[in-house]
Amino acid sequence: MTAPYTAAALEPEATAPLIMALPKGRILKECGRILARAGIEPSPDYIDENTRHMRFPTNHPGLDVIRVRAFDVATFVAFGAAQIGICGSDVLMEFDYPEVYAPLDLGIAKCRIAVAEPAETAGTDDPSRWSRVRVATKYPNIARKYYASQGIHADVVNLSGAMELAPGLGICRLIVDLVDTGSTLRANNLVETAKIADISSRLIVNRTALKTQPEAVGAWIARFRDALTQG
Ligand code: ATP
Ligand code: PRP
Repeated sequence: MTAPYTAAALEPEATAPLIMALPKGRILKECGRILARAGIEPSPDYIDENTRHMRFPTNHPGLDVIRVRAFDVATFVAFGAAQIGICGSDVLMEFDYPEVYAPLDLGIAKCRIAVAEPAETAGTDDPSRWSRVRVATKYPNIARKYYASQGIHADVVNLSGAMELAPGLGICRLIVDLVDTGSTLRANNLVETAKIADISSRLIVNRTALKTQPEAVGAWIARFRDALTQG
């Protein structure tokens, strides 16, 4: 298949390199193969967990990568600090930045965002009769929106991790969190009671950058699209 971009578009002359924001952690590991298929080779210390560097050159003079927390990728792209990024759709849903456009589902880091509660209370009460509920989550906006759509006010307890502990320790009725195999829920005597959305990682771009540098940004979108079709 002929790629709808030129090599020159990937290596613009006399302009600052584009910046791609990549998340530390599990997505960084899972996206290695897609980056390789897209022909992107960051400098070797990019995969060194001990390096204090955060910005890395790549084999393309026109592209640098930055390594940031998974939850912050969309923010770096929304504010134009990075023009491109890879980000979980959970993070996109939570921040809902109008400046971020997500043209490609990369099909990695698949999981779901769900409601879970202690096995002993699950099903003992009818949520349609609730007017408010206390929820522990690192996704306050998703949780509030989900419950608001059912006419329920969510009182959110904001945690950054280990929310599976929260109901058993009495600070909330239920949690909203990511679930994949369900083993974390089971280990903490919780059961999933509702799925809010399926989650996977997306290629994202800053809309202004796409307008002002359509050739360079568009060329990278096309590269990633081709990388996905290579299977
Ligand atoms: P940090 O370590 O900075 O707190 P984090 O724990 O959210 O970040 P990861 O665990 O790497 O970082 O999760 C990053 C992204 O990976 C999430 O935003 C989500 O899209 C996806 N993800 C998280 N947990 C799972 C899972 N259990 N299975 C599949 N994908 C997941
Ligand atoms: C995520 C999520 C759950 C777990 C779900 O945590 O927050 O705790 O994965 O996966 P499972 O259903 O397969 O058990 P993660 O592993 O990212 O740990 P963290 O929250 O400490 O970063």
